Amino acid sequence: MSERVIPLIDQRLHRRAATVPAQPVAPTGLLGDALGRPLRDLRISVTDRCNFRCSYCMPKEVFDKDYQYLPHGALLSFEEITRVARTFAAHGVQKIRLTGGEPLLRKNLEILVEQLAALRTTEGQPLDLTLTTNGSLLARKAQALKAAGLQRVTVSLDGLDDAVFRAMNDVDFPVAEVLAGIEAAQAAGLGPIKVNMVVKRGTNDDQILPMARHFKGTGIVLRFIEYMDVGATNGWRMDEVLPSAQVIERLHRELPLVPLDPTAPGETAERWAYADGSGEVGVISSVTQAFCGDCNRARLSTEGQLYLCLFATEGHDLRHLIRGGASDAELASAIGAIWQGRDDRYSQLRASLPPESGEGKRRVEMSYIGG
Ligand code: GTP
Ligand code: 5AD
Ligand code: SF4
Ligand code: SF4
Repeated sequence: MSERVIPLIDQRLHRRAATVPAQPVAPTGLLGDALGRPLRDLRISVTDRCNFRCSYCMPKEVFDKDYQYLPHGALLSFEEITRVARTFAAHGVQKIRLTGGEPLLRKNLEILVEQLAALRTTEGQPLDLTLTTNGSLLARKAQALKAAGLQRVTVSLDGLDDAVFRAMNDVDFPVAEVLAGIEAAQAAGLGPIKVNMVVKRGTNDDQILPMARHFKGTGIVLRFIEYMDVGATNGWRMDEVLPSAQVIERLHRELPLVPLDPTAPGETAERWAYADGSGEVGVISSVTQAFCGDCNRARLSTEGQLYLCLFATEGHDLRHLIRGGASDAELASAIGAIWQGRDDRYSQLRASLPPESGEGKRRVEMSYIGG
C-alpha cells in the first residue's frame, strides 16, 4: 500500500447522516432555505469517472491509474435516483441536470433519462431535463438520449484549436470529435444547446474570440466560465483567472455586444446579445461576481450525498435513509429540513475566508458532485 494521501478519499469521510426531523416537512413546493432561497435546481452526478483529465477538474497527478473510484455498489441505482428526484420535484425543483464526471460513461443512461422524463413539477409540468457532457460520446448517443426524453445538452469545450483543446483535456482528445458531437446533438433536436468554456488565463484565453466567431449565428449559446477554486486538487491561482469583465471587453472590441436582462432568478450566467442580432453569449463569474444571493441549486453525488453548495466540505447522506427503508414522507421531511437549514454562500464569502477553510476538511471535488 502506498502512503500517499488521496484527497478525495479524505473528503468522502466527511458526511453527516441525514435524519428524519421530529416535525414533518411536507413537500409543498414552497421550501425556503435559511436565507429565504427556494429550491429549484437539482444536479445529479451519475458517475465519478471521466475520460478527460482537465487540469482544473481532474488533474492527472491525482486522478491517476491508482485512483480509487467509487465501487459499483456505492452508486445510487436508477430507481434510487428517480425516487430522490421525485421527492425534490415535490419540494419545488423544476430543473434536473445530469452531470458527472462524464455522465455518458454511465451504462444505459437513457433508461434513467426515461424515468426522469416522466416526473412532473408541482404544477404538473415536465421538468427541464438536461445534461452536461464533455461531448466525446455525444455523436454516438444523441439520438437515443433525445428518444428517451432528454430536452437539451450543455457541452464543455475549452478551445477550437486542436492543440489547445488536446492540452486542456490532457488526454489528447481531438476537438473534431466534440464538434461532431455538438452537430449530432443539434441534428437530434437536443436544443437550445449551450457550450461552456472554462477560461484559464495564459492557457486557453486566446480561444475566446475564435470560439465566439465559431458559434455566433448558430443558435448555440457560448458561455465563458471563470476558472474556480473548486475542490482541493487543481492548484488554483487567482492570477490564472481572467475576470469576465475582461472577456466581455475583448469580445465587444471585435463583436459588439449589448447587455440582456436575466431570464430567471438565481441564474448563473450574465447574458449579452450580439448587437447585429446573431445570438447571445454569457459569462459565469463565480470568482469576481458571486451569484449566491439567490442560489437555488442542490447537488446529489453519485453515491447519494446531498451537497448544498459547490464548495461544501460535507454532504448529507441520503443513501443510508433510502437503503434503511425510509418512507416517501420521511425522505421528503429529511430533504426539506436539510434545505431549511442551508446557509451556504461560499463564493460571496470567498474573499474573507482563509484558503482552506472548513476546520481542515477538504472541499468536495467537482468530478464527484458535478458542475
Ligand atoms: P442552464 O440552465 O443551461 O443555463 O445551466 P446553468 O447555467 O444552470 O448551469 P451549467 O451547469 O451550465 O453551469 C455552468 C458552470 O457554472 C458550471 O460548470 C460551473 O462552473 C458554474 N456553476 C454552476 N452552478 C454553480 C453554482 O451554484 N455556484 C458556482 N459557484 N458555480 C456554478
Ligand atoms: N472552474 C470552473 N468550472 C469548472 N468546471 C469543472 N471544474 C471547474 C473549475 N475549476 C465545470 C466546467 C465544465 C464542467 C463539467 O464543470 O464548466 O464544463
Ligand atoms: Fe471530465 Fe468535465 Fe471534469 Fe473535464 S471538466 S475532467 S470533462 S468532468
Ligand atoms: Fe450556490 Fe455555493 Fe455556488 Fe454560491 S458558491 S452560487 S451558494 S453553489
